Amino acid sequence: MEVIVKPTPAEVGRTASALIARVSREKPEAVLGLATGSSPLGIYESLAALVDAGDLDLSRASGFALDEYVGIPLDHPESYASVIARDVVGPLGMDPSRVRVPDGRASDIEAATRDYDEAIRSAGGIDVQILGIGANGHIGFNEPSSSFASRTRIKTLAPSTREANARFFDDPADVPTHCLTQGLGTILEAKRVVLVAQGAAKADAVAAMVEGPLSAMCPGSALQLHEHATIVVDEAAAARLTLRDYYDYTYANKPTWQRFE
Ligand code: GLP
Repeated sequence: MEVIVKPTPAEVGRTASALIARVSREKPEAVLGLATGSSPLGIYESLAALVDAGDLDLSRASGFALDEYVGIPLDHPESYASVIARDVVGPLGMDPSRVRVPDGRASDIEAATRDYDEAIRSAGGIDVQILGIGANGHIGFNEPSSSFASRTRIKTLAPSTREANARFFDDPADVPTHCLTQGLGTILEAKRVVLVAQGAAKADAVAAMVEGPLSAMCPGSALQLHEHATIVVDEAAAARLTLRDYYDYTYANKPTWQRFE
C-alpha cells in the first residue's frame, strides 16, 4: 500500500485526481470505478476542472459505479444512478452510455449482480477504482463481516451506515435498508485502487485498514491484498497511523517516474 498524507481535504482530492488523470491520459478508454459519498467529491471537482481547462478528455472513458440502493426509484435524487449522473458523468464530460450503475430495481437481483461483474470483465476490468471508506471500515457497501471473496451482490446496510447516510434524505426512515455493492473480491480485481478519506471520524477506520490485521471486521483491510492500492488521507484521517513518518519519507523519496503530481 502507498499511503499519502496531505494537509487539507482539498489537497487529498487534487492528489487523487492527478493519479486518475494520469491513468486516463495514458489510456483514453480507461475504465473507471466510480464511488459516491462525500469523500470523492473533491476528486470529481478537480477532474472536472481539468476537463473544463481542456487538460483532460474523459469522453471515451467508461465507468462502473461501486454500489446502489435497493428500493428507491431510479430518478430519486439520492439514487446512486442520479448522484453519478449529476456529480460525475455530467461534470466530467463522460458519455452516459458508457457508464453503468448496478440495477437496484431489478426483478432478478442475482442475475443483475452476476451480469454486473460480467460486464466489468467484458470491459477489460477496472483500470482505477475510486473508493471512500465508512467509519466502520466499509468500502462500497461491504459492511463488516463481508467476505474478502465476495462478488457484486445484495447487502443489508448496517444501522450505523443508514444513520450516516440519513443526511442525504428528508426523513431518516427513507434511507433504504438494502443495497447492491461490488464485492470485496470484485474490488480487488481492479488494476489500481485509490481510496480517499478526510476528517477525524475516519481515523480509526484508516488505521485499521492500513495497519490492522486482515479482517472481515474491517472490510477496507482487504486492500492490503491489492498490489497497487494508493491511500490518500488528510492530517485528521491520518492521526492514528503509527508508521506516519515512514509514509512521509517514502512519498518524499518516490522515484520521479512513479510520480503523478
Ligand atoms: C457510503 C458509500 C461508500 C462511501 C462510504 C463513506 O455510504 N457507499 O462508497 O465510501 O459510505 O461515505 P462518505 O464518503 O460520505 O463519508
